[in-house]
Amino acid sequence: MRQSASPVGDSTPAGLAANRQEILAGLMAAQKQLEPKYLYDERGSRLFDEICTLPEYYPTRTEVNLLRTNAAAIASFIGPRAEVLELGAGSSLKASLLLGCLDEPAIYVPVDISADYLEQQAAEVAALFPRVMVRPVLADFTDALALPRPLTRERTVVFFPGSTIGNLSRRRAAALLSTLAEQMRGGALLLGVDICKDAATLHAAYNDSRGVTAAFNLNLLARLNRELDADFELDAFEHDAVYDLQNERIEMRLVSQRDQVVNVAGMAILFRKGEYIISEHSHKYDPDDLARMATAAGWRLDQCWIDDSERFSLQYLRAPTIS
Ligand SMILES: C[S@@+](CC[C@H](N)C(=O)[O-])C[C@H]1O[C@@H](n2cnc3c(N)ncnc32)[C@H](O)[C@@H]1O
Repeated sequence: MRQSASPVGDSTPAGLAANRQEILAGLMAAQKQLEPKYLYDERGSRLFDEICTLPEYYPTRTEVNLLRTNAAAIASFIGPRAEVLELGAGSSLKASLLLGCLDEPAIYVPVDISADYLEQQAAEVAALFPRVMVRPVLADFTDALALPRPLTRERTVVFFPGSTIGNLSRRRAAALLSTLAEQMRGGALLLGVDICKDAATLHAAYNDSRGVTAAFNLNLLARLNRELDADFELDAFEHDAVYDLQNERIEMRLVSQRDQVVNVAGMAILFRKGEYIISEHSHKYDPDDLARMATAAGWRLDQCWIDDSERFSLQYLRAPTIS
C-alpha cells in the first residue's frame, strides 16, 4: 500500500509574499517581531536539523532517548493500527522511531509549512514503512486543519514533539490544545516539551559555539531578501538568544549592528544600532503546569515520561470521548 508522498494543500502557508502585510506590520511595530514559522524554508529546516545534532542542543537527543527507552509503553498506550498525525514534523527521525515501535501503524500524516522539506521527509518515511499510508499536509497547524479523509479520530494519535508548542505564546498554546482536544475527540496526543532549567544550559543551547543557530536565525533575513525583495545586509545583523526568566522563555533576536535603513517590499524600515527583531520565542514548561494547561483544555494525562536529568518531558494525553 505504497502511497504518493506529495503534500496535499494548495498554497505555501508560510510563504513570505503571501504574508506580506503581516510581516511588514511586524517589522514596523515598536518592538519588531516576526512569527517563528518564517524561519523554516528548506535551508532553515536543514539548519534546524543540524542544530539538533549539536552537543549544546540537548532537547533532541533527550526526547529521542525518551522515545527509545519508553517505546514499549508508548506502543501499548497507542495500540494497534494507529493513525499518526504529526504537527510541525520536520525531520523524519522521530516519526520513524515512533512508527517503528507501533503495532501495524496504518497512516502517517506529517503537517508542516516547510514545503520542499516536508515532501522529502515524507518520502523517506514512505520508503522506510511501505505498509503505512503516508499523506503529508502542507499547512499552518495554528489554522483550521483540513485533514485527509482516511483519518478516523478514534485511532488518531497527534504526535507533537520537539517542543514546537513552546514557540507559541502560552495563550496560543492553550488555545491550540483546546482546538485539538475538540477536533481529536476519541484520540490521543503525544506531546514533547522542554522543561524550565538553569539559564546557562539554555543560553548555550541557543547560542552554540559553531554558530549554526546564528546561521539558522540569519537565514530569515536572506529569505526576506529573496522572497520579499528586501535588502538586508546579513553582516549588519547578529544573532543573539537571551533567557527571559520572568516569562520562562528563550527569546531569539536579530540585532542591528548600526543605524541603518532596510527596504522590504517597497517599505523603508529604520533600525537603530542595537535594535532587534524577535524571530522566535521558545517557552519552557514545568511538566505539572503543562499537564494542568492540557487538562484545562480538555485532555486527560495518562502518563508523563521525564529523563533522569529532568530536561525534557513527553506526555501522553487522551482527548475527550466522542459524545
Ligand atoms: C522546532 S522544529 C521541530 C521539528 C521536529 N518536529 C523535531 O521534533 O525536531 C519546528 C517544526 O515545525 C514546523 N512549523 C513551525 N511552525 C509551524 C506552523 N505554524 N505550522 C506548521 N508547521 C510549523 C517547522 O517547519 C519545523 O519543521
